[in-house]
Amino acid sequence: MLFLEANGARIPAIGLGTWELRGRTCARLVEQAVRLGYRHIDTAQVYENEREVGEGLRASGIRRDEVFVTTKVWTNHFAPHDLERSVKESLEKLRLAEVDLLLLHWPNPRVPLAETLGALAHVRQLGMARYIGVSNFTVALIEEAVAACAEPLVCDQVEYHPYLDQAKVREACARHGMAVVAYSPVAKGRIKGDRTLARIGQNHGKTAAQVCLRWLVQQNVAAIPRTSRIERLSENIDIFDFELSAEEMGQIFQMGSAAGRLTDFGFAPKWD
Ligand SMILES: NC(=O)c1ccc[n+]([C@@H]2O[C@H](COP(=O)([O-])OP(=O)(O)OC[C@H]3O[C@@H](n4cnc5c(N)ncnc54)[C@H](OP(=O)(O)O)[C@@H]3O)[C@@H](O)[C@H]2O)c1
Repeated sequence: MLFLEANGARIPAIGLGTWELRGRTCARLVEQAVRLGYRHIDTAQVYENEREVGEGLRASGIRRDEVFVTTKVWTNHFAPHDLERSVKESLEKLRLAEVDLLLLHWPNPRVPLAETLGALAHVRQLGMARYIGVSNFTVALIEEAVAACAEPLVCDQVEYHPYLDQAKVREACARHGMAVVAYSPVAKGRIKGDRTLARIGQNHGKTAAQVCLRWLVQQNVAAIPRTSRIERLSENIDIFDFELSAEEMGQIFQMGSAAGRLTDFGFAPKWD
């Protein structure tokens, strides 16, 4: 496993995404993932699976300090007291004393960002989160957040895969020592039929998904692919024994555009 250094945090480069994994399936996949070598699990309050993620972690027998657990606060809890209460609830569900990384899940223009960041920093100072960060923040919001936050922010978790150009967010994060954590890193499964990725994979005996994840990690980006299939858990972490050439990296970069976003923004709260 590779680790990304970001403002003091050491983030395992591959993690398991758990959006839409529920109930016993979720607990079983988390347990299996840890047994297969995953050391980073991504959940969120709004995924309604923190309890099962905690169960999976305990069932795996992993020592707490060997696994990096991220959760996120949903936007309706961004008022300072709400935020602290909501993180307490998340910790109770996970049955953890602290998470490794706590993120603001989406920007919420209805609550002043400085107030929410004050509460996020306070929660860290209380020992409920080892590190804090943001998600779905644009370059302008990253700049605003870094300037306003009393504690270092360690990442921006954003949609990132070969079809979406995220050069500007990557540059902004790098300027501030923050990591980019790529969500939807296999483009919600769409990379499976991609000819360019499959062709590059043939050079290395790897699948299109493995090439895609390797491309992210080779840029010093962490990736949190989700799968509900045990066999793909192994596939998605088996990317540390090969290297893409500069030419192959370049070919994949050429596939990206600003229009390649897959996230349905209907998922975000309506501001007005
Ligand atoms: N911060 C945010 O706002 C935000 C937003 C979205 C997601 N996330 C996080 O990021 C994680 C990942 O994003 P995501 O779930 O949207 O998308 P993703 O990981 O890119 O794609 C998941 C889909 O790809 C398929 N898949 C996984 N591995 C595969 C492989 N090796 N070959 C072919 N298909 C594969 C899965 O199908 P099978 O189950 O059939 O394998 C699933 O349908 C989420 O689970 C969540 O933790 C965060």
